[in-house]
Amino acid sequence: MSLYSEKVMDHFRNPRNVGVIEDADGVGEVGNAKCGDIMKMYIKVKDGILADVKFETFGCGSAIASSSMATEMIKGKPLSEALTLTNKAVAEALDGLPAYKMHCSVLAEQAVQAAILDYYKRNNIPYDEEKFRCASCSHEHDHGEEE
Ligand code: FES
Repeated sequence: MSLYSEKVMDHFRNPRNVGVIEDADGVGEVGNAKCGDIMKMYIKVKDGILADVKFETFGCGSAIASSSMATEMIKGKPLSEALTLTNKAVAEALDGLPAYKMHCSVLAEQAVQAAILDYYKRNNIPYDEEKFRCASCSHEHDHGEEE
């Protein structure tokens, strides 16, 4: 049996929403200092909705699958809803990740938050810092690594 679910393999081989949004309304770039992987998320916002989302991930297969799945989960959703996306939800949507790969899904959660934070800052929109705790932290253990 493969270590990775069919869904992980699918999103790794055929990642959705790969690319750059040239005139993005917000861009978030995060990285994991330990493995050196980097994820960049671009968002386009219209009337409080994520009209478009794209990503570039220079990283492992799980990080690519996680970013692909995350973009699918937040595209077309209100910003407020996208902000509640957790790495756990991304991993679950992928039918699970091996425990030692859970940190890869954390990058997706952080990248989404970082992009939305960038959008808020660019537009001087007041925001609740509590909601963005993960955007700039690298404490993957805070996100609950699953057994
Ligand atoms: Fe670095 Fe997966 S090993 S994000």
